[in-house]
Amino acid sequence: MADGRGDEFLELFDDAAAAPGAAASPWPLLVADDDPAVHAVTRLVLRDVRFRDRPIEVIEAHSAAEAFDIMSRRPDIPVALVDVVMEKEDAGLRLVQRIRNELSNNLVRIILRTGQPGSAPERSVVLEYDINDYKEKQELTTDKLVTSVVTALRGHYALREVKKAYAELTQAQGRLAELEKLAALGGLVAGITHEVNTPIGTCVQAATHLQDVVGAARGKYEQETLTPSDFEEFLDEVAKVGTIIEAASQNAARLIGGFKTMAVDQASGARRPFKIAALIDDVLLALSPRLRKTQHRIEVDCPADEEIDSYPGALSQILTNLIMNSLVHGFDGIGRPGTMRIAVQPAGQPAGQQVMLTYSDDGRGIAAEHKLRVFEPFFTTKRGKGGSGIGLSMVYTLATETLGGTIAMESSEGSGVTFTLTLPRDAPGNR
Ligand SMILES: Nc1ncnc2c1ncn2[C@@H]1O[C@H](COP(=O)(O)OP(=O)(O)O)[C@@H](O)[C@H]1O
Ligand SMILES: [Mg+2]
Repeated sequence: MADGRGDEFLELFDDAAAAPGAAASPWPLLVADDDPAVHAVTRLVLRDVRFRDRPIEVIEAHSAAEAFDIMSRRPDIPVALVDVVMEKEDAGLRLVQRIRNELSNNLVRIILRTGQPGSAPERSVVLEYDINDYKEKQELTTDKLVTSVVTALRGHYALREVKKAYAELTQAQGRLAELEKLAALGGLVAGITHEVNTPIGTCVQAATHLQDVVGAARGKYEQETLTPSDFEEFLDEVAKVGTIIEAASQNAARLIGGFKTMAVDQASGARRPFKIAALIDDVLLALSPRLRKTQHRIEVDCPADEEIDSYPGALSQILTNLIMNSLVHGFDGIGRPGTMRIAVQPAGQPAGQQVMLTYSDDGRGIAAEHKLRVFEPFFTTKRGKGGSGIGLSMVYTLATETLGGTIAMESSEGSGVTFTLTLPRDAPGNR
């Protein structure tokens, strides 16, 4: 449905619909038949028919080739009446095939007509190429032809509405995913700001203390009461404060550096080799202000040197989403401290080609009837209470498409959830 042709199609439709009643532009109806008499009769029968206040305009094609040419120029045609036998025995069937496959036009409703009773196309053709009606010509009395055409128009109209709704939904999903990403990045900023405050506070305190020490020493010096042991004490104190300031500012620089990498990774979506344990640390650090407000704990079991060449931004978004879901859904009102667990180990055949990351919590779990739906976009059990239902669908796309891995979920109500991610050590895509 995401092909360019379809969108163009949609616009044409919107234009037509934009002028209700006023212009009453007719519904174009393609009639493909090599018998001129059939065209004449069809025109006559459909002359006074109106659907949704618009008349029908018959467009004639006298061969399958001509019909294909018209269809390729007019993707807005809603219904085609196609004769089976034209240039060849099966020209009509081939035409349908080409409309569906070469033009990727799945919206035009097709009514097949044949003059030869009993030469019905195989059921498989009807099913495979989405032929919407099949009639023998003599069966097409005036009434039946009108009914058939109007039913096809109605079907087409409904399909276009569905397609439009689908396009809108896809757009909304994209916008929500962007918001979710921004929220994650915002959370990251808040987390790092909070963490960086500690070493910066230490530096400020140390600097103030230094001023006091210098002030005291200067006073004694000016009053000429500064003894050699006072001076030694002064030097010791200055050295000590210097060490403290150095350690604290290095700590701040490390935090900011980690934050910068994470933010750049998330914003740029860049691929690079990275250590999983370090990435988990960064994620937990960014989430620590939120985690500290709760009693819940998180346990990590990951070899320090486990390295993959992949997309760190995607993996940190996945982890952030899973952890936030445990806090928001899993531990919602459980009245006891919950435990989240992240375990990483080599996996795959041959050994070590992949890494397996297991994320679990011991929270409320997911009800059996929701288990198949949690990865669906917009599925949330917290609608109207801050849930968008985008988190896990994003996790799914990131895990399977961006990281090129798989993800599975296991849960039973009351005993928590487990997500198992299998990731190739060497992610797909260009370096
Ligand atoms: N750790 C969890 N424990 C229990 N339920 C969960 C957990 N994670 C996700 N879910 C369920 O899956 C649904 C979909 O999650 P998600 O796609 O992140 O959307 P949202 O968080 O906006 O509701 C949630 O509404 C919740 O019902
Ligand atoms: Mg969520």
